[in-house]
Amino acid sequence: MFKRIAKDIKDKKISGIILDIGTGPGRLPIEIAKQMANVEVIGIDISKDMVRIAKRNAKKEGLMDKVKFEVGSAYNTRFEDCSIDLVISTGLIHHLKDPLKAFNETYRILKHEGEAWMYDGRKDATKMEIEETIRSLGMEEDLPLPLWIIKGIWPYMHVGYKTDVYISGKIGRALKESLFKSYDIEKEGAYIKIILRKI
Ligand SMILES: C[S@@+](CC[C@H](N)C(=O)[O-])C[C@H]1O[C@@H](n2cnc3c(N)ncnc32)[C@H](O)[C@@H]1O
Repeated sequence: MFKRIAKDIKDKKISGIILDIGTGPGRLPIEIAKQMANVEVIGIDISKDMVRIAKRNAKKEGLMDKVKFEVGSAYNTRFEDCSIDLVISTGLIHHLKDPLKAFNETYRILKHEGEAWMYDGRKDATKMEIEETIRSLGMEEDLPLPLWIIKGIWPYMHVGYKTDVYISGKIGRALKESLFKSYDIEKEGAYIKIILRKI
């Protein structure tokens, strides 16, 4: 998934500063830093431990100079108004107690015409959608079946909200109330992708 998102960013020729909110172990910023030279990638996470792990992962990959990790909250970041080219997040939204505050903070820091791509799991994805997602991400590789189920399917079934929550529930309502006047909510197999545009 991280490889795919990094490729999408590269294909869209996005440059400048990319901020990953709720970066966890930093897998997405690391993948972006591997694929793209002309960007500054920063990952923030509310958890000090996660930031420590992310830094360790970047070091292992020899990418310490290309990617920065720091403690930071989705609700109140250190970044200036209109300073970020692209905000991304994976698996963050279902953690947010106050999604409206996080969306509005994202709006504040994005440059004019900047976008945020926020991915999360769909708890109600069908078995077929999950299998399709796994296939499209090339996850079946050479794993034996029991490992394939544990590594490939299990994580998707327990992450995120049901699709309705993103569209018309807690998250959908926060999106409508937010400063973003342009956004799309797309189903991508087992995932939801919310694209927010600052226009
Ligand atoms: C499910 S993990 C996803 C990690 C990573 N993005 C990934 O996909 O591997 C969610 C992460 O969001 C972080 N998080 C939760 N609430 C946050 C907030 N308000 N601000 C920043 N990070 C937050 C958690 O500490 C956790 O590392």
